[in-house]
Amino acid sequence: MPILTFANTKGGAGKTTMALVVAGELASRGHRVAVLDADPQQWVSRWMTRLPKSKTFSIVADISADNIETTVKDLAARNDYVILDLPGGLSPLLAKGLGLSSHVFVPVQGCALDAAGGAQVLDILKQLAETSGIRIAHSVVLTRVNSIITTRALQAVKSLLARQQVDVLDTPLIERAAFRDMFDAGAMLGDMNPETVSNLDRARSNAAALAEEIMRRVPLKVARPKAASRKVTKKAA
Ligand SMILES: Nc1ncnc2c1ncn2[C@@H]1O[C@H](COP(=O)(O)OP(=O)(O)OP(=O)(O)O)[C@@H](O)[C@H]1O
Ligand SMILES: [Mg+2]
Repeated sequence: MPILTFANTKGGAGKTTMALVVAGELASRGHRVAVLDADPQQWVSRWMTRLPKSKTFSIVADISADNIETTVKDLAARNDYVILDLPGGLSPLLAKGLGLSSHVFVPVQGCALDAAGGAQVLDILKQLAETSGIRIAHSVVLTRVNSIITTRALQAVKSLLARQQVDVLDTPLIERAAFRDMFDAGAMLGDMNPETVSNLDRARSNAAALAEEIMRRVPLKVARPKAASRKVTKKAA
């Protein structure tokens, strides 16, 4: 099943936040989702200890360059989506994680350092394609975007990256208190209180739009042909 990876070598680019927002959305749609916490600081795992138990959502900690491949393969067999939250910095763990991915999403905040960290990830993917013929689909996702930024401004960034043949998702993750407070609250967006978190409804619809765009890019291939083939058989009978 699809392995969605969030990577940028720059620390603090918004990888973990985006990984958890997307994981929460996919799980809330009934998909089985496993998040691999490959960050040595284990933020996700610490956050997880405060979440209510869930049948569709799990977090696996202590991922290293030595165990990432077996862990990803094992989880991919038992889940609809595997989400990989990679640490910042260049490391063998990053390279292995990228190589195992179905699609790599590169969160970029629009600042030069973030873009440079994103470019390092794109470079590794390019090298993988050139030296080993392994082509991993990838897209930049803008994050911490100011809510009053105009569509036109986003379009300008998109076309700039498109000129360098980099795909950019149409949906950015907006700068919202809800996305920041998820960690402190030890909760998914769906479990947060709209009375205490400002613009929670907007954060939720932003998260839903991002997850839907990601699902369109990386569909659950196995589930679809099965349903389609049943339909064909019925018609033929
Ligand atoms: N869309 C957003 N709205 C508001 N705050 C955000 C958003 N995305 C990220 N942040 C905040 O930015 C900071 C860095 O985000 P995050 O921890 O997700 O980055 P990271 O790339 O995983 O960092 P690291 O490299 O340390 O693992 C955090 O304080 C987080 O709450
Ligand atoms: Mg992180």
